[in-house]
Amino acid sequence: KNPAGAPSTELARPVRKVGVVGAGLMAGQLALVFARKLRVPVVMTDIDQERVDRGVGHVHAQVEKLAARGTLSAEAGEQLKSLVTGSVSKDVYADADFVIEAVFEEMGVKKTVLAELEEIVSPECILATNTSSLSVTEMASDLRHPERLVGFHFFNPVAVMPLVEIVRGPQTTDEVLATAFATARGLGKTAVLVQDAAAFVVNRILLRMMGEVQHSFDSGTPAEVADHALDPMALPMTPFTLLAMVGIPVAQHVTESLNTAFGDERFPVSENLQHLIDAGITSLWSPGGDGQQSIPAETLEVL
Ligand code: 3HC
Repeated sequence: KNPAGAPSTELARPVRKVGVVGAGLMAGQLALVFARKLRVPVVMTDIDQERVDRGVGHVHAQVEKLAARGTLSAEAGEQLKSLVTGSVSKDVYADADFVIEAVFEEMGVKKTVLAELEEIVSPECILATNTSSLSVTEMASDLRHPERLVGFHFFNPVAVMPLVEIVRGPQTTDEVLATAFATARGLGKTAVLVQDAAAFVVNRILLRMMGEVQHSFDSGTPAEVADHALDPMALPMTPFTLLAMVGIPVAQHVTESLNTAFGDERFPVSENLQHLIDAGITSLWSPGGDGQQSIPAETLEVL
């Protein structure tokens, strides 16, 4: 069944080569899912060779893990690795059909990347953004061809989470939207069309819940209590564990977008989280493998 708001599948264009701009952890997860599910070449790009090599290396290591676990045959693993390559030049996207950006969550950075891509890609190529919270309308506003931009928002961990939020910009064509839905289907994901509103649907709800837990902690509730208050709801992981998985800076960026849109009352920006970011701390909990969670002394010092 065609999802609500999705144009006729007949309008979808073929996707034979994919680009992933950025070679960070999210970008690597995207590259892997595109190559694995669509079985097409995927090229990752970043600003220097070191980042590119690290990003591609991370994807290849993930493939090796899947092969070692028996999820993939050794041969399928080798094939998959050969599909994911890297480059420092976006010129490799001249013959790409679908290029998704997963760069730093800042409007200026996204706009620069999209403007660069416009100079290179073919007229039929779709540009997608994996933004978690920024306006797709604003992102499209400086493009010469805003009609080919679409929001295509994945969730962590990409390999497992079934949802993709698809965001239609004001000028996105039916062909582009149909291709986005068909691509999501090819990836084995459930796609929903969401409005171009701050942090779309899922993150807006999720960050409200996580923000309340954070607020509770910031107001003096012990972390062990605040983070486990929702345990009877049988969530798959606690809010602070989820925060570490998503990345504290990413969560903070999403909250800032929501704060701009809806104010301090609904989405206060936590100073404590900012202290953690400034100190380079990536999780409230110590990673200790004994199942006992605790906040390390050095973390308490920065709070
Ligand atoms: N990468 C890839 N695969 C992973 C993974 C990871 N980081 N973590 C777990 N998996 C896979 C496992 O390999 C396993 O797959 P298999 O069945 O093929 O072996 C499967 O997920 C289940 O894993 P486990 O049995 O080990 O673990 P759990 O049952 O505890 O599930 C979880 C792990 C799926 C991560 C679960 O805890 C969960 O759903 N957590 C909530 C995740 C969530 O809410 N994500 C949304 C975050 S918001 C976001 O991303 C938006 C962004 O814009 C900020």
